[in-house]
Amino acid sequence: MSDFIVLATAEDVAEAAAAEIAEALRGGARSLVLAGGTTPKRCYELLTELDVEWGRVAVLFGDERCVPPDHPDSNYRMAKETLLDRVLPATVYRIPAELGPDEGADEYAEVVANAAPLDFVLQGVGEDGHIGSLFPGHPALHSDGLTVGIHDSPKPPPQRVTLTLEAFRDAGRVLILATGKGKAEAVALARRGESPSGMIPNARWLIDRAAAGQ
Ligand code: 6PG
Repeated sequence: MSDFIVLATAEDVAEAAAAEIAEALRGGARSLVLAGGTTPKRCYELLTELDVEWGRVAVLFGDERCVPPDHPDSNYRMAKETLLDRVLPATVYRIPAELGPDEGADEYAEVVANAAPLDFVLQGVGEDGHIGSLFPGHPALHSDGLTVGIHDSPKPPPQRVTLTLEAFRDAGRVLILATGKGKAEAVALARRGESPSGMIPNARWLIDRAAAGQ
């Protein structure tokens, strides 16, 4: 069963997440999978200030929008600007989603297979309960393998590459962040196992009071 930890504010969630990631990396985790979206930005900024031997860490991504890496919508660009330009990981494996959903997913599957087991996965959650780019009711939820291309994401842009549920479930640790009242329904769905983000039994959630519906 997933664990849900409720903290007072979004800042508390960012601080706790950064501290957990740093501690895991100090404790021997060698692969870190980053989240896209806006929620993890503050966590990434705080992470730059913590004591981590980045030269021993391989960074991967949970999903990517099919845009060039310097595009404002790129998850890689967000992580680069907030974290990766300020620390020096041993390797950064961005998802080559600009190749398109299918080719991008095929190429990244090899990267993920070589990096496996994934030690620490950070993710956000969508208001509809999606994780990565795995959306409720989407056939990609049943994909075999480690990655899958998405052609019809309900959240723009429509074309994406994402890790699969199998890849998330195989990770050593999965930490999901949810903040703000807009995520309260997503958290409730996940608690009932009724959304993609609720289908990862090994996940630990850090949420603020608003996302907890308090
Ligand atoms: C993306 C994502 C997606 C995101 C959630 C939450 O590319 O859109 O990786 O899974 O994490 O939609 O996004 P916010 O943090 O912006 O609410």
